[in-house]
Amino acid sequence: MVFEGLILNNPKTVEKNNFNRSSNNKKVYIETYGCQMNLSDTEIVLSVLSDFGYNETSSVNDSDIIFLNTCSVRENAETKIFNRLKHLKGLKRKNPAKVIGILGCMAERLKKDLIEKEKIVDIIVGPDEYRKLPHLIENLFETGEKGIAVKLSKEETYDDITPVRKEGISAWISVMRGCDKFCTFCVVPFTRGRERSRKVSSIVSESKKLFDNGIKEITLLGQNVNSFNDDGQDFADLLKKVALAVPDMRIRYATSHPYDCSRKLLDTMAEYENICNYIHLPVQSGSERVLKLMNRLYSIEHYLEVLYYAKSIMPGVGLSTDIITGFPGETEDDHKMTLELMEKAEYDYAYTFAYSPRENTKSYKMIDDVPQDVKMRRLDEIIQLQRKLSLKMNKKLVGKTNEILIESLSKKSGDFFMGRTDCNKSVIVPRKKYMIGDKIKVKIIKSNSATLFAE
Ligand code: SAH
Ligand code: SF4
Ligand code: F3S
Repeated sequence: MVFEGLILNNPKTVEKNNFNRSSNNKKVYIETYGCQMNLSDTEIVLSVLSDFGYNETSSVNDSDIIFLNTCSVRENAETKIFNRLKHLKGLKRKNPAKVIGILGCMAERLKKDLIEKEKIVDIIVGPDEYRKLPHLIENLFETGEKGIAVKLSKEETYDDITPVRKEGISAWISVMRGCDKFCTFCVVPFTRGRERSRKVSSIVSESKKLFDNGIKEITLLGQNVNSFNDDGQDFADLLKKVALAVPDMRIRYATSHPYDCSRKLLDTMAEYENICNYIHLPVQSGSERVLKLMNRLYSIEHYLEVLYYAKSIMPGVGLSTDIITGFPGETEDDHKMTLELMEKAEYDYAYTFAYSPRENTKSYKMIDDVPQDVKMRRLDEIIQLQRKLSLKMNKKLVGKTNEILIESLSKKSGDFFMGRTDCNKSVIVPRKKYMIGDKIKVKIIKSNSATLFAE
């Protein structure tokens, strides 16, 4: 998953999206931070607001309402929001009628403390209460009363809401919400509440609609998709039904927890050609002892078994992971075990983080005893090793032919396109007569640790 990135509104797509069902002349500007779930939630928020006539704007200055959809996963994610609020103070001073709202995980974690601490904040809404947004905004305009809605729900999945998506060839479909895994370091079970799944039938029909609207690739989202359960149908069943319903759509998903990542799921991935051979399998640590302290529920042996099985039935499967360094009590030996595991796993990519203690989690009570400089040194060693591994994995592809889906122009030059392989590798190709959304066969001619280049 992608974290803490600020997703800037793209003025062009925003213009296209202006949803004028019953315009009320109020303009909403949203910045999204955190993981893909938050990006997908922003699309739900836009849909809820559009039904009440709000229009999206890409200009923070021009807006009547500013929402920050926030992340709490590490301290620096929250610091970013506090700094952003400092910047927004000037805007609020100039125009006190401007509404400033905090959505998402920080809203859920800090609740009314956030309004007390940050006077410029008018509205606080947690991930399960987005349907209340129009009401809270209207009430604020009418009475001047600030609004808070942060109840977590056991049922809310926004199943009936059609997200307002940005223009493009890819789309997210959130298939389940919440997490019951309670890894000892993680705030997500507290900010997102209990696990609940959408209906298979509604996900299948959403996929079909997206395909009819020109979408070429969907990503099914959940904090732990292995917990998907709609009346006994598990995630593998869902994946199979979607694969059959939209045979020409590329299908990805995130995220799978190694503890309950089943053979059935991997077999399903291998069986259907349109399910991408790419798996994000966060390991967190290579040390059994640390995994126990993290309550990750699997052993290294089990983890490698899952991984080797995936590699055996899907040769060349793309593989990425998440790693935390400096968890309480992590020794130099534990750290070395993580490096060893990375060599064995041969990841294509790793998302790496220094441990950040989060209030209310179990590990918050453990002593955060790895000094910051040691955490950073270990993190650096992990990043360096991953760079080496990524380079090695990418070199293996040179000379091979791969199918890519063209996603966008290359960032560096308008003469090139960027496309992605089934295994989630970025490939740069000459533009020629191709178009965004084309699937083409290319021959990889060179590579570095981040990118492949093709003819
Ligand atoms: N459900 C997803 C993870 C969501 S959080 C999963 O299990 O894969 C994404 C990543 O952030 C986690 O995998 C972990 O590596 C990292 N993370 C979570 N809490 C953290 C903390 N307190 N400090 C540092 N990294 C953390
Ligand atoms: Fe957090 Fe663990 Fe749930 Fe992932 S599985 S969201 S790391 S508690
Ligand atoms: Fe962050 Fe919440 Fe996602 S804490 S990682 S935005 S679920």
